[in-house]
Parts: sequence; structure tokens; C-alpha cells
Amino acid sequence: MVPSLIRVAILGSTGSVGEQALDVIRLMPDRFEVVALAAHGRVERLRQQALEFRPRRLACRPGRDADALRAEAAAWGGAFAPLEEIATLPEVDVVLVATTGLASLHPTIAALRAGKKVAIANKETLVVGGHAVRAALDEGRALGAEIRPVDSEHSAIWQCLWGEAPESVETLTLTASGGAFRDWDLLALEAVTAQEALNHPTWKMGPKITIDSATLFNKALEAIEARWLFDIPLERVEILQHRESVIHSMVTFRDGSVKAQLGEPDMRLPVQVALLYPERGEAKPAPPLDLAKRGALHFGAVDEARFPALGIALEAGRREDTSAAAISGADESAVAHFLSGRIKFTDIARLLGRALEAHAPTRQPSLDELLAAEAWGRTFVDEAVTAGVT
Ligand SMILES: NC(=O)c1ccc[n+]([C@@H]2O[C@H](COP(=O)([O-])OP(=O)(O)OC[C@H]3O[C@@H](n4cnc5c(N)ncnc54)[C@H](OP(=O)(O)O)[C@@H]3O)[C@@H](O)[C@H]2O)c1
Repeated sequence: MVPSLIRVAILGSTGSVGEQALDVIRLMPDRFEVVALAAHGRVERLRQQALEFRPRRLACRPGRDADALRAEAAAWGGAFAPLEEIATLPEVDVVLVATTGLASLHPTIAALRAGKKVAIANKETLVVGGHAVRAALDEGRALGAEIRPVDSEHSAIWQCLWGEAPESVETLTLTASGGAFRDWDLLALEAVTAQEALNHPTWKMGPKITIDSATLFNKALEAIEARWLFDIPLERVEILQHRESVIHSMVTFRDGSVKAQLGEPDMRLPVQVALLYPERGEAKPAPPLDLAKRGALHFGAVDEARFPALGIALEAGRREDTSAAAISGADESAVAHFLSGRIKFTDIARLLGRALEAHAPTRQPSLDELLAAEAWGRTFVDEAVTAGVT
């Protein structure tokens, strides 16, 4: 039987995950059709992608370049559309959510309600809108809706869970490389530059997630994400330092068995797994794992004194109210201020601690309340930085 064509929409096609998804699609051109590409400011890169894949729908920031692209795309019947329309196009099977921030929260919810398979790389959508995203999944399930994790850690857990009964799961273990500063002297962290923080030891990623990896805030986002993806209390999600990022994550079952998924650190494999599920592709998008060559893998407990942002964000997540949304917004703003040189690296965690202390949480929040908490977090940090309080 000839396998059916998988029709894909990519939200965030010009970013690190988006570009790697297009690499996967280039490896199997007869398996995929790119129906839509959406980006924001990198319009020239979007144009190059559009000329290669000729998608029916496009989106990017308005302006002269966008107008020129709109005119060019008309030649193959391509048109611009809002993200929500792109995510629900009848001809789309899989929506890959690879934007940063909350740009794809409403499109993700709309896609699930419309019965789409949503391959989700973006963390903020689940950390802020987890309640609403799960409700949309329940609504769309009868129409075929699914959420497929793309992040390497969640993809690993997902793959370990295939064929397993939910009640047999005891704990999920997320592995953490430890980021750019895992071996630095604690005092030296006060003076690190954005360039040093952007130098991740094992992964090549966009700037926000790379800084979040250096503070380990990213690992807390992943734990909260896991809570929503796998419907498990945060208390049963553990974090283990693993320097080489070869074991992507693990599941411990109630009989004591532990399953892990391994591979070279390369996002193209989890992207391919999410796009093709339940099939295993024939293409090998990442370099093969050679354990004999690697020799040894290393593990250890996470040093919480080195990574205070981790504990603050996990505490926010455990509260199960608007705190995680507020802290996610606070971090969005703190990372932007660090990258622009206005605050020190260590100020990021200090500001997150202040934000968690100041936030007045709402229990059982609506989506509007979650979004308001996220915006509150951003404003709280912006005002603190403007006032010179860190
Ligand atoms: N990179 C990784 O290896 C990795 C791994 C796991 C999870 N993730 C998660 O995946 C998400 C994407 O990460 P990334 O590293 O790929 O980020 P990135 O390189 O910064 O790319 C972000 C993408 O989102 C687009 N975008 C931003 N705002 C948008 C908007 N309003 N409308 C439409 N598109 C918009 C950007 O467009 P322009 O570039 O055109 O402005 C770009 O294509 C993040 O949530 C991250 O935490 C990433």
C-alpha cells in the first residue's frame, strides 16, 4: 500500500525547529506536502522557503516585504492568512507549532477543536494555557485531534509510553545537560555575557530557549509541559543532570523497570517522529548514535544553588493556579532584558523570585485569567528593570 501524503502547516517555519522540520520534509518529499508556512520578522527567509515549497497559505509581519511576498505568492495561488485560519485549514493534517512565546496559543486550541494532529514544540502554550489546551484536545478527540510532543525530552517519554498502560507509570525523568554554565564558578555567574549564555554545550536552538537552558528555567517549563502532556502530577516528574544529552528522558514503571530513549542531540529526529507517527520513517535525519565511540555517559543531581530559577518555576507550577503563567511572562521579559544588556544573568532568577512573591494567584483560572497573569509577569519585570530594582 502506498503511504498517504501528510499535509503539514508549520507555524514558526523560519526558526530553529521550523528549519529542522523543513530538513526532515526535504528528506522525504514524497511523504509530505507543505500546505502553509507562518513566520514573523524574517520575511526574506520565509520568501526563500515559499519559493521552494509553494505553500497555499503564508503568514508574517505586515510591511513592504510582506506585500512583495503576497504578490509573488499569488503566482502559484498562495495567499496570506491569519495563524488561526492556517491551523484549521481543511487540507492540513498536522500542524507543527514551532513559534516562540504565545503567538500560537489560540491557533493550537483552534487546531485541536478542528480535529488536527498538533505536533507541539512550543513550551509557553502548554505552560500558560495547559488547562485550555487539554480541554480543546478533549473536544476535538472525536474528530481525530492529537497532541504529539516534539521537544526531545517529551518525545522520549512519549516513545517510552507507547503500548504502556497509564496506571503502570510511576515517574517521568527529564534529563538536563546543565546548560552553558554547569561547570562555572558560582561567583563568576554575576558577570557572564549574553554571548557566553548563548553558547549551549550540546544543542543549537533559538535565543530564548538557550538562555532558559543556561538558567535551567527551561527544565521547569518542560516539567510543567510534561504534567499537561502526560496528565501526571508535577511531583512525579523528576530532573536528572546528564551531561551528554544522549538519553533524552526516561520513564520508571511500577515494577521498577526503566525505559529510556537515546539518540544524538538533534531535533530533526523528534520532529520526524511527531510528523510521521505512528509510522517510523525510513530516513535517518540525525547522525547515528555510536555508544562505543562515546564511551561513557554521565549523570548527577541538579545543583539547585547554581540554578535558582529552576526551583522558583517548579514551585509556581506546583501551585496549579496562575503562578506558572505569571512566571512564564516574567521570564520572557527578563530574558529579553538580559539579551539587550540591561540586566545581569543572575538578575533573571532574582526577578522571577520577586515576581512569584508579588503575584496574587487565581485558582482554577480561565484562559483570559491565565493570559492576564502572563501579561502581569512581563509588566512586573519591565517595571522593575526600568526602576532599576533587580
Ligand atoms: N530550538 C530547539 O531545539 C527547541 C527544542 C525544544 C523546544 N523548543 C521550543 O520551540 C519553540 C521554538 O523554538 P526555536 O528555538 O525554534 O525558536 P526561534 O528559533 O526563535 O524561532 C521562533 C519562530 O517563531 C516565529 N514567530 C515568532 N513570533 C511569531 C508570530 N507572532 N507569528 C508567527 N511566527 C512567529 C519566528 O519567526 P521569525 O523568525 O520570522 O521572526 C520563528 O520562525 C520555543 O517555544 C522553544 O522553547 C525549541
